[in-house]
Amino acid sequence: MPDLAKALSIGDLRRLARRRLPRFLFEIIESGVEDERSLERNELAFARHRLLPRYLVDVSRRDQSALLLGRRYAAPFGIAPTGFAGLLRRGAEVAMARAAAASDIPFVLSGASIAAMETIAAAAPHHAWYHLYPARDASVTQELLRRAEAAGFETLVLTVDNPVFPKRERDTRNGFKHPMTLSPFMVADALAHPAWLLEYLRHGGMPRMENWARFLPEGASSDDVATFFRSQSPSVQTWRDLDRLRAAWPGRLILKGIQHPADAALAVQAGVDGIVVSNHGGKSFDPLPSPLETLPGVVRVVGGRLPVMLDSGIRRGSDIVIARCLGASFAFVGRAALYGVVAGGEAGARRMIDILRQEVDLSLALIGCPDIAALGPHFLLHPPDPHPWDWNAPDEAGLRTGVTGSLLKAQPA
Ligand SMILES: Cc1cc2nc3c(=O)[nH]c(=O)nc-3n(C[C@H](O)[C@H](O)[C@H](O)COP(=O)(O)O)c2cc1C
Repeated sequence: MPDLAKALSIGDLRRLARRRLPRFLFEIIESGVEDERSLERNELAFARHRLLPRYLVDVSRRDQSALLLGRRYAAPFGIAPTGFAGLLRRGAEVAMARAAAASDIPFVLSGASIAAMETIAAAAPHHAWYHLYPARDASVTQELLRRAEAAGFETLVLTVDNPVFPKRERDTRNGFKHPMTLSPFMVADALAHPAWLLEYLRHGGMPRMENWARFLPEGASSDDVATFFRSQSPSVQTWRDLDRLRAAWPGRLILKGIQHPADAALAVQAGVDGIVVSNHGGKSFDPLPSPLETLPGVVRVVGGRLPVMLDSGIRRGSDIVIARCLGASFAFVGRAALYGVVAGGEAGARRMIDILRQEVDLSLALIGCPDIAALGPHFLLHPPDPHPWDWNAPDEAGLRTGVTGSLLKAQPA
């Protein structure tokens, strides 16, 4: 077990994770799509911002607790859904859920997880959210929803930014496919990483996606389950499907992956409870903007009617502070959480949370803002420009999408 206390930053946890994993698996975390420009843009978008400090403020006590969906969390960030985490390290989803609960932040279980949703609900009953990958067969989706409700999940996340499977060239070049077959190169790679390999072998090889295994006869192999999952997902969703989901799901419903202000307006109208502005951490489509660029437009259109959250590119606590200055109520981290949990299981996930919390705390002290709720554009050297589009102008080219009428209805009076 590495000495996690020596990891001072998310970058340090990343190095530990890289050491532990075979390269083809580490690269599943790292990869984006196509030329990986959106991946690069996500981090650059944060680097472009400067925080403008205020001094001679009493910062001897700082409060970073954040209100979200009617409750207060200890920190302004949570753990985003990441599929197949349990392949990267056994029990990774349970470890992240436990670490999140112990630190009082939310954890979102991916619809492509290894762990069963009931296991996660039991591990973190008040902190786990469930992320739905709807199935092509509506009865499968209904059953997933029924189980999520029965397990006690109160918050459901629907990801909208991968309606079809994206072009993940790095993963394909590395030979990663689903179901996974190990080429001689991958076997050699695994042999060079004995900690991962021993764990893999000790637990019987390729783990199954337990939520999807329930739809197959008992004893189905991990390959059978993966093949079934791929036959059901991705499943194209429309606003009409969202209406049906809204009617079927009694708890809170969050849309993840919204970037267009017009979609944000439609989401408000559809009665969702929150939006995560996201480009799937650069794993969707290369020409997509970084969520930090589209956040101000979404925040403006939503007008405080629901929380607007953000993920993609967060590697430092100061990134979370910048996102708050631009109007995000809350942030989520994907890769940072995977680095932590791969590096050190539950303790590694806790270390990731502690590092980000300490960095948020330090940022608040160093810019003279003891209360996170007081962050805003006035702490940015370059506050965002007014959005280039006029969202009330139905004839503007950008709005000829058939959603203009709904958009206008959704505008605040
Ligand atoms: C390995 C990996 C798997 C992911 N799996 C999912 C998933 O199953 N569902 C989903 O909505 N997003 C998924 N994401 C995207 C994350 O939820 C999140 O949007 C993204 O990681 C945020 O960017 P960051 O990694 O720069 O923090 C995944 C991301 C990674 C890195």
